[in-house]
Amino acid sequence: MKNKSLVSITDYSKDEILQLLKKIETFENNPNQRVLEGKVVATLFFEPSTRTRLSFETAVNRLGGRVIGFSDASTSSSVKGETLKDTIMMVSNYADLIVMRHHFEGAARFASEVSSVPVINAGDGSNQHPSQTMLDLYSIYKTQGTLNNLQITMVGDLKYGRTVHSLLMAMSHFNPVFHFIAPKELEIPHAYKTFCESSGIEYHEYSEFLEDVINLSDILYMTRVQKERFTDLMEYEKVKNVYTLRNKMLENSKPNLRVLHPLPRVNEISYDVDDNPKAYYFQQAKNGLYTREAIICTALDID
Ligand code: CP
Repeated sequence: MKNKSLVSITDYSKDEILQLLKKIETFENNPNQRVLEGKVVATLFFEPSTRTRLSFETAVNRLGGRVIGFSDASTSSSVKGETLKDTIMMVSNYADLIVMRHHFEGAARFASEVSSVPVINAGDGSNQHPSQTMLDLYSIYKTQGTLNNLQITMVGDLKYGRTVHSLLMAMSHFNPVFHFIAPKELEIPHAYKTFCESSGIEYHEYSEFLEDVINLSDILYMTRVQKERFTDLMEYEKVKNVYTLRNKMLENSKPNLRVLHPLPRVNEISYDVDDNPKAYYFQQAKNGLYTREAIICTALDID
């Protein structure tokens, strides 16, 4: 890491990812530690969020720090025309760390370049969501006992789903085989396929949600169709119900299979899956608290 900002998951080396996973485990064992006393963290959410914002804010509270910020940009001076640059320069005068979600790809990188304090990307458009990726990696590690040599199946909106893009890049350190299940309109972008090819990573693409693929998977990573990224809502209507995972589809899946989803879900996982022990998405979201405690402390150089 050149500075302590976390903009892309590629800001962490493989060793740094592995060290961070250990740190996350220590926070899971002891989530209440007053290591942020006297620190102020700003959460600037230009896009809606439940899990990411609340888990970051809970993390700061549990570690004894203070939170400032906004969850609705329409209450900030951005509606008066203040630029992102000026907003970040102002807030970095007040806070020790900025956590920002923004609809523009690249906004977090730009913010990190103009900020005098570290910036954590809480999601920038369809690009990256690195703190989600760290909690996904932690969830995979906890449920599989390893990150190595896993069959990872990603389902749904692989075009706009930033959590898919970040997770793919992070898993590239660990020799995965990827199975990409998406309709033509929401296929994984070419840049990520090229990345797999140049990294020697095996991948397969499907347009049907086949049980044969579920049955060979260690991780089934479901995603929501990202309505907010479509410029033409008629296009969204065509694909919004494309796949739904139902409990009976898991009947012949591997015993170690776990179903992950970054959430929120709309209709891509039926409620009858929730009681299946292979459903892990709510615990996955809970792991987000410990993950964000570790990420905040890393960004602020606190051991
Ligand atoms: N996973 C995730 O980013 O959820 P929120 O949009 O609720 O923060």
